[in-house]
Amino acid sequence: MKFIKLESYEALSRAAADIIAAQVVQKKNSVLGLATGSSPLGTYARLSEMCGAGEVDFSDVTCVNLDEYVGLRAENEQSYRYFMNKNLFSHINIKPEKTFVPNGCAEELAREAAEYDALIERLGGIDLQLLGIGLDGHIGFNEPDEFFTKETHVVELDVSTIEANARFFARREDVPTKAITMGMGAIMRAKKILLIANGKKKWEILEKAMYGKITPRVPASILQLHPDVTVIYSET
Ligand code: GLP
Repeated sequence: MKFIKLESYEALSRAAADIIAAQVVQKKNSVLGLATGSSPLGTYARLSEMCGAGEVDFSDVTCVNLDEYVGLRAENEQSYRYFMNKNLFSHINIKPEKTFVPNGCAEELAREAAEYDALIERLGGIDLQLLGIGLDGHIGFNEPDEFFTKETHVVELDVSTIEANARFFARREDVPTKAITMGMGAIMRAKKILLIANGKKKWEILEKAMYGKITPRVPASILQLHPDVTVIYSET
């Protein structure tokens, strides 16, 4: 695991965008695994800028997102599909049909989950997976549990996750209690992983994930077993 500490969120975002852009420059038809949350906002803004300046071309890239809330439609401003369209896809030259986010409104969520894994497999797996980390150590929405789940699956969100994400919703009651998330299988099979975290409050869990016991109680700790992980952290 390579650990990089940078002086600011701005520097973190630039460094993360550079890594993603380098991946796309090296392999035009890369499959990027993408994340939501506040952490990647700066990275996405920087990638949008780089694409606008002709420094990176997303026309052959495919994106597969980690997760989605159950019950939120794409038009809902709190859905992760909406977030991705607003913060990245609408600013870069990616083909809309090459952007994938699990459908949290699918009638049969178990089937949606299985199809999402089949899609990732058909794409040949993920070349570079971008991750944030939740305060409870979750990646995607793989919450602390007694075991790691390999496949894409539906999860009950932890109270701490609901509370942490309530800032994006008008009322706490509006935060969905369930989500559909990529499992550890697709994440761990990604050829490269880039985890970004900013803010002092993330340090304690990040340190546990990087150097602590490998346990499903700290889902991100599984990344210690991956051969190519870069973690970028900034205190601000
Ligand atoms: C959310 C997402 C994760 C994200 C994490 C951290 O719940 N499902 O993919 O990494 O929480 O979010 P933030 O970057 O806003 O701290």
